[in-house]
Amino acid sequence: MKLVHTIEEVRDHHDATRAAGRRVGLVPTMGFLHSGHRSLMEAARADGGFVTVTIFVNPLQFGPNEDLDAYPRDLDGDLALAEAAGVSLVFAPSVKEMYPDGEVLTSVRVRGLADQLEGASRPGHFDGVATVVSKLFAIAGPCRAYFGEKDFQQLQIVTRMAGDLSIPVEVIPCPTVREANGLAKSSRNAYLSDTERDAAAVLKRALDSAVAVIEAGERSAASVELGMAQVVATEPLATLDYARVVDARTLETLDRLHGTLRLLIAARVGPARLIDNVGAVAD
Ligand code: PAJ
Repeated sequence: MKLVHTIEEVRDHHDATRAAGRRVGLVPTMGFLHSGHRSLMEAARADGGFVTVTIFVNPLQFGPNEDLDAYPRDLDGDLALAEAAGVSLVFAPSVKEMYPDGEVLTSVRVRGLADQLEGASRPGHFDGVATVVSKLFAIAGPCRAYFGEKDFQQLQIVTRMAGDLSIPVEVIPCPTVREANGLAKSSRNAYLSDTERDAAAVLKRALDSAVAVIEAGERSAASVELGMAQVVATEPLATLDYARVVDARTLETLDRLHGTLRLLIAARVGPARLIDNVGAVAD
């Protein structure tokens, strides 16, 4: 496994890989890698590609009062995990390498998909994500890129962006990896005490109970959303931000639930803001 820090080195490795007839598999991350990230690397490996992991805590996607400075970092640990997962190349650029002119004048905005849910709670967040991911795609060149369903709205936005801009990257969705208690693995779980980690399992319980309610025939989005909020309210350490059920493709609100749905939830537990989601079908 090789560690590189410049865009030029990534291009050279990827050009050589494609020239040799091998496919590139790209796994963009912000580091502090865990088994959720590893599952993306394993999916890329299983597809037979040369696997590149990018590690970059992207300032553009953090709001002024968010945790950019506190975001956990551990390059040595990340390299060990990536190596064990059979990764070929790690790209860990500096902020200067990615944004040499300081101010970034060009921004990629996926209208509609980026405005609700996480986009409403974190204004500008998805513009920062779409901008850095389009840059990473431009750096990587033609490849498959692996993204987690854990960040479902991000996955939809990145998929749409690649399609709208005809970027030669195929976005591959990967299922959410969870702790034994149901809590979705996240770098931000590092902010939680043991008690808060137990409390954070309430997010998945709320989602599961809502799926059961839909399976039992409930078709009112408002009732399903109220049910999720009530489950979260049973946990004193958790403060709900939103609990929504939407169309899985458009992320739009439905009055009467039908078709392929996504249930999404965000809550603060102690010092961490956590998100989770699951799918459901209403026929
Ligand atoms: P990060 O939060 O580090 O996540 C990197 C990738 O790992 C994302 O595709 C995310 O959905 C996936 N992932 C995280 N936790 C997961 C879990 N428990 N199960 C499955 N996949 C999981 O998402 C970002 O970084 C950034 O926004 C990025 C796309 C790198 C742009 O900066």
